Amino acid sequence: MASLQQFLDSLPADQVFRIRSPIDYVPTAVVMELEKQGRSPVIIVEPEQPGGMPVVINLFGDRSRIARIAGVELDQLFPQWGRFLDTPIKPRMVKDGPVHEVVLEGAKADCTTLPISKHFAEDGGRYVSSGVFVAKDPDTGVRNLSFARMLMKAPNRFSINLGSRGDLWEHQGRAAARGKNLEVAVVIGAQPAVYLAASAKVAMTIDEYDLAGGFLGKPVDLVKCKTVDIEVPAESEIVLEGEILADEHEDEGPVAEYTGYSSRRSTRNVFCMKTMTRRQKPIYLDITPGLSSEHLTLAGIARQARDYTRIKEMIPGLKAIHFPRSGNSFHCYMSMKKMAEGEARRALMMLFGVDPYVKLGVVVDEDVDVFNEAEVLWAVATRFQADTDMFVVPKVLCNMLDPTSVNGTNAKLGIDATVPKGWQEQRATIDPEVLAQARTLIAGLKS
Ligand SMILES: Cc1cc2nc3c(=O)[nH]c(=O)nc-3n(C[C@H](O)[C@H](O)[C@H](O)COP(=O)(O)O)c2cc1C
Repeated sequence: MASLQQFLDSLPADQVFRIRSPIDYVPTAVVMELEKQGRSPVIIVEPEQPGGMPVVINLFGDRSRIARIAGVELDQLFPQWGRFLDTPIKPRMVKDGPVHEVVLEGAKADCTTLPISKHFAEDGGRYVSSGVFVAKDPDTGVRNLSFARMLMKAPNRFSINLGSRGDLWEHQGRAAARGKNLEVAVVIGAQPAVYLAASAKVAMTIDEYDLAGGFLGKPVDLVKCKTVDIEVPAESEIVLEGEILADEHEDEGPVAEYTGYSSRRSTRNVFCMKTMTRRQKPIYLDITPGLSSEHLTLAGIARQARDYTRIKEMIPGLKAIHFPRSGNSFHCYMSMKKMAEGEARRALMMLFGVDPYVKLGVVVDEDVDVFNEAEVLWAVATRFQADTDMFVVPKVLCNMLDPTSVNGTNAKLGIDATVPKGWQEQRATIDPEVLAQARTLIAGLKS
């Protein structure tokens, strides 16, 4: 799939909704309302004015679309993740690409011409939520892709948050210590595989375009930026070239965070744009921020895949892992075929060691579907006793956005809802043939 448009064109019709509405607030509300109905289609907001840019939102709001981007079946997404990391495909430099169809410099590079929207009522202004920052390690030159939300302050100026303390924060810190601005290019809309790669947390020695190539199954074509020493996907929709300033900070926020709260926590960095390049007719990609499936899925999928891979190395009986939406990345359900008593607790301790976000871990047997929260809670109701089957580890490093954390730490609760060896209870079941009959009957019912 060479471009965002081609990926959208490849989706089944029932996964794409088209609406005509103002860009502020309404598209976010549509996504959140559909989520309540258990639906998570891509929303395309048609431009109100002829010739305006369409806005695409909720592209990453569904796990099955993430699997489609990675080119695997949904149940193979985590088992195959290690393969993407092990078989990277290097990008290819090309001379030109659609992203350079329009080059705007100086006063012509004006972000107020983009449909940058407001999402939630408390938000401090217009936010670019889909900006992938491409930067280079100031010492090694290895490229990195990562997200940072951007609050528009002026046509060429944004305050941004590097609060995840990821590679971009590290690169910017090292450049600033030498009194230097960090050159970056912000990609707004590209092949969805580039977005998957940007959400992944990998070693700083790995070029994340290699990972995007792994997802795509072919090299990502890159072009050199016009005014910074950075390379961007030739098929990008819009690119903002510029710098993160070494010595300036500006207020940023409040903004809806994945916890469901409006947050003022920010590193308050400043990005200044020099040049905007774009397609002649670009699509503006937006990502639903806050406690939305889109934000949680895109931010959480790479972490779940990493947790799965790490734990599976030691515990081959691990079957599936899931961060339920209700737990906004703080809760994790795992299913496993237990080889020995105590193995569920071992899996929980590994989980808490690998993933600082998780504060509640629940392990169930392989007959329980971790993607069905009611089943997990059924297992807790019928296979767990609080006096013997749980443990708490106090004061462990955590994600700072947990509103109940104390000095950057919280308590980890592990629940072992697996059955003990020799368990005699038999689950009541329905024969698959009878189930098929029932489904046929239901399909024929008139409502
Ligand atoms: C939609 C989305 C928005 C994000 N926004 C931010 C942000 O504003 N600031 C931040 O520090 N991290 C943010 N993150 C998390 C980081 O980008 C993410 O952890 C990334 O993997 C960091 O990669 P790096 O260590 O390679 O820089 C966001 C993630 C997603 C998926």
